[in-house]
Amino acid sequence: MADEMIEAALAARQKAHAPYSRFLVGAALRDERGLVHAGCNVENAAYPQGVCAEAGAISALVLSGGRRIEAVVVAGGGTAACTPCGGCRQKIREFAGPETEVRMVGEDGRVLLVRTLAELLPDSFGPENLG
Ligand code: THU
Repeated sequence: MADEMIEAALAARQKAHAPYSRFLVGAALRDERGLVHAGCNVENAAYPQGVCAEAGAISALVLSGGRRIEAVVVAGGGTAACTPCGGCRQKIREFAGPETEVRMVGEDGRVLLVRTLAELLPDSFGPENLG
């Protein structure tokens, strides 16, 4: 299952629209039914309007009827792990628990870093906080 997710993230990464940063990112999410959903970053000439790969993958998951994120893979470029930005950590938090694993892989699919969501976003605020 982890390999299927890595393949999905790498394939999505190839579709990224990132002419400004030239930093291609793909993300894959596994939902509670075992289905894998992918997304890529989509940049915009009005720079702040760009969308991260994780956000696209979350939209695909929700659109298909998924409501839980069981695992995350993020595929970036270069040698450093492409960790989700702060905003995406919170977006993932909406559908994932503290122990959900986030795997960061390189463009060759090699795992560079594995973190739980709680490690990436400690003491997080989530739906439960709203009572
Ligand atoms: N980016 C993502 O899509 N996901 C991440 O986890 C980090 C950064 C994108 C945003 C922007 O299009 C490009 O990478 C450079 O920041």
